[in-house]
Amino acid sequence: MDNLALNLELNHSIKSGVMRLTLTNFRNYPFLKINAQLCPIIITGENGTGKTNILEAISFLTPGKGLRGARLADVKRICPIANESEYAPTEIALNTWAVSSTIARGEEEFDIGTAVEKSIKDSSYERRIVKIDDTKISSQSELGKYFSAIWLTPQMDRLFRGGSQPRRSFLDRLVYAFDLEHAKRTANFEHLYKEWFQLIKSGIKDNHWLASLEENMASLGVAIAAARREQIAKLNTFIEHEPDDIFPSVRLELDGLIEKMLNEKPALEVEDFYKNSLKDQRKNVLYNDNIDGINRTDFKVFYRKKHMPAELCSTGEQKSLLVSIILAQAKSQTLHQGFAPVLLLDEVVAHLDDIKREALLEKIRDLNLQAWITSTNPELFQSLKNDALFFEVKNNQIVQK
Ligand SMILES: Nc1ncnc2c1ncn2[C@@H]1O[C@H](COP(=O)(O)OP(=O)(O)OP(=O)(O)O)[C@@H](O)[C@H]1O
Ligand SMILES: [Mg+2]
Repeated sequence: MDNLALNLELNHSIKSGVMRLTLTNFRNYPFLKINAQLCPIIITGENGTGKTNILEAISFLTPGKGLRGARLADVKRICPIANESEYAPTEIALNTWAVSSTIARGEEEFDIGTAVEKSIKDSSYERRIVKIDDTKISSQSELGKYFSAIWLTPQMDRLFRGGSQPRRSFLDRLVYAFDLEHAKRTANFEHLYKEWFQLIKSGIKDNHWLASLEENMASLGVAIAAARREQIAKLNTFIEHEPDDIFPSVRLELDGLIEKMLNEKPALEVEDFYKNSLKDQRKNVLYNDNIDGINRTDFKVFYRKKHMPAELCSTGEQKSLLVSIILAQAKSQTLHQGFAPVLLLDEVVAHLDDIKREALLEKIRDLNLQAWITSTNPELFQSLKNDALFFEVKNNQIVQK
């Protein structure tokens, strides 16, 4: 498909996004309601006014821990007690937090809500519940049928420099959009891994139990690795055929034992290998050594034209590489699913030069999708003044400009 055909396809895709967002006891907001439209939405305000918190709330309409990877308890609003004393204690708002929304997709509308609920058995244990049109769903992965979001945050400026875990999570979220089961598989794998790890540490020598955990981990692990490989191949092919005119062309690679083996061997054989390798690595748990497998896979990104690994690129280049990846993902997702994901772009223009910033804003407008963009400086978005909604946050409230 050439670029013209691609653009036509994208223009005919169904628009989707958040039409209404209501926050209750969420971070700094006792109550907040935003009526939005399916267009770029620019949220500006001074530091600490609550711009990122709004994007985080939207990210809770997807599976997982949201764009900050937060603990549920940290999201609940803390209200300082009015007290003259410098070290005033803080009080947690009595009710738990909630995010509710109306999502539009073409002619259809859905109400999606999420909140925390205390466990009946143990009130100190909280979990996130999700309702779609007032019906509680059993697995968060179902959210992907109704809503999809991709985010870029300032924390991700360090994505290429630190350990591999955030890069894996970034990739896994790209996979969820195409393969709803992936969210469930990664959550189940983590759960089994913790159980296996603790069982070995506890010294209980239950070989039968351990073998059963290893078998399940191996089969889930191979499915996770296969889905990651497929996603990387899909994005690489897309980027090769649809090179961007402004943002750099990237090459994506996976560096992982199980993913590499899948290049050479049938999945069943890799599964057997993984199961035996986990058994051999039980002693590593006891010696606190690393455990090899899909939980150590690294997601590598290269600046294609410069033959440069992303970690050696400049801050602005790294941001541009991330923009390239999410634009490719958004376009391929739109073509594949018929509706575009919502983009959550927190301070995304901060490291971009004027040309790149304007190019990004133009692309967002042309992609026909909803993008929530935060910044401390509304002046930077003049070129969108006829195409976007502008909001300002102040004193825990939001005002449309
Ligand atoms: N659980 C909580 N309860 C109450 N307030 C909170 C909670 N968690 C964070 N906050 C506060 O919310 C405020 C807004 O945070 P947020 O990160 O959304 O600001 P921001 O507008 O994005 O700022 P910046 O421009 O610096 O990125 C901060 O002052 C923060 O301390
Ligand atoms: Mg912020």
